[in-house]
Amino acid sequence: MKLPYAENHKIKMVESIKRSTRTEREKWIKEANFNLFNLRSDQVYIDLLTDSGTGAMSNKQWSEMMLGDESYAGASSYYKMKNAIKEILEFEYFLPTHQGRAAENVLFSVLVKEGDLVPGNSHFDTTKGHIEFRKARAIDCTIDEAFDTTIEHPFKGNVDLNKLEEVYKNNPIEKIPMVIVTVTCNSSGGQPVSMQNLKEVYQLSKKYGIKVIFDSARFAENAYFIKVREKGYENKSIKEIVKEMFSYADAMTMSSKKDAIVNMGGFIGLRDKELFRKASMFNIMFEGYITYGGMSGRDMNALAQGLYEGTEFDFLDSRIKQVEFLGDRLKSFGIPVLVPTGGHAIFVDAKKFFNNIPKEQYIAQTLAIELYIESGVRAVEIGTLMADRDPVTRENRYPELELLRMAIPRRVYTNNHMDYVAVALANVYERRNKISTGFKIIKEAQILRHFTVELERV
Ligand code: F0G
Repeated sequence: MKLPYAENHKIKMVESIKRSTRTEREKWIKEANFNLFNLRSDQVYIDLLTDSGTGAMSNKQWSEMMLGDESYAGASSYYKMKNAIKEILEFEYFLPTHQGRAAENVLFSVLVKEGDLVPGNSHFDTTKGHIEFRKARAIDCTIDEAFDTTIEHPFKGNVDLNKLEEVYKNNPIEKIPMVIVTVTCNSSGGQPVSMQNLKEVYQLSKKYGIKVIFDSARFAENAYFIKVREKGYENKSIKEIVKEMFSYADAMTMSSKKDAIVNMGGFIGLRDKELFRKASMFNIMFEGYITYGGMSGRDMNALAQGLYEGTEFDFLDSRIKQVEFLGDRLKSFGIPVLVPTGGHAIFVDAKKFFNNIPKEQYIAQTLAIELYIESGVRAVEIGTLMADRDPVTRENRYPELELLRMAIPRRVYTNNHMDYVAVALANVYERRNKISTGFKIIKEAQILRHFTVELERV
């Protein structure tokens, strides 16, 4: 018999998590104004809100914490991080930042100005937020297949080269500072971008003189999918694949809270010295001096170690197979999940799950609330709430997909937890026809409203 996969770690320390009753959860979610971000973590049993900063560090990462050098300038921890970035990603220059959106803030302060256009593959919400905050526009050039949750396409994160070239051709080039390729593409379901596509985006962009930036939060998961799905890469190591991927980028932003398996941290990788110099000024203003940029020495050490561990095949294999395990369980109950299952999360197609809640009543948010009340599992809406209003018309933007995302923290939960989640969602699915109304907004922020929005039942 073929041996099944199993984790490439064993457990040395545990943390208790609390169960609760349905009555308690009904009360808590109401007090939280039906916004799951407002729940206290001890009101949650299994927390699938995000895989960001929620991973379990290894014994080696923890021992690196003790070796951190907290010097203000030129700390050895800075050089440890610099070496890891040089070795794994091959960027000559880098700037530490406290997390991914801070990297976006610093880099975009140099590159993006009012009226600019920034094409890409379904920009993540903070990325889009930082573009729109500067009165520029993010243009989605993802392939059409990404918007149909039922199509089995191996690289649903791919950029549609025709859509991208249309943007390049029909606009003044000086208005397009860069294209952003997100690997894996979180917003379209943790879906990977193929090496072929990365290469073609780079070649096309070079033809027009446009910079290619990778939003790299889950670059290692992307490399894993290239290895297992793209012809010609099956015998290459993850580290070799990562090197080739980044050879097609001029710069990168990184939220290290994902694939570098740390609780906090980020950075910008750059090749161009002039761009590095310009970005350094903003880094000092917003983040801190260029050799720490919002991070402690100990955190830079853990991050460097995390980059090595996060790019090991055995780790990625067990991680991504756990995500697939949950996906398969849900599929066995007939629950409409986005296929193929992605790298870091399972995405449930909420419009297919509930077919009688109007889109104006936040379908995916309704599902997130129902799942919480059913089980104490916290997931997140990736739908109309997250899409914000159109910056010009202030009308709600209705994205093609209303998704419920269940993100799996790295090395944290067992497959028994996954099983619990699957059964919980199956219970909601069983009574789906009894749920026909959703929620309305009573308070919201101008940008990134889903974090603080307040809702009430329709
Ligand atoms: N880019 C991508 C693709 C992301 O998924 C995130 C964060 C960021 C940038 C911003 O990084 O949080 O470190 O500032 N995603 C988290 C999530 C929040 O839950 O998917 P950050």
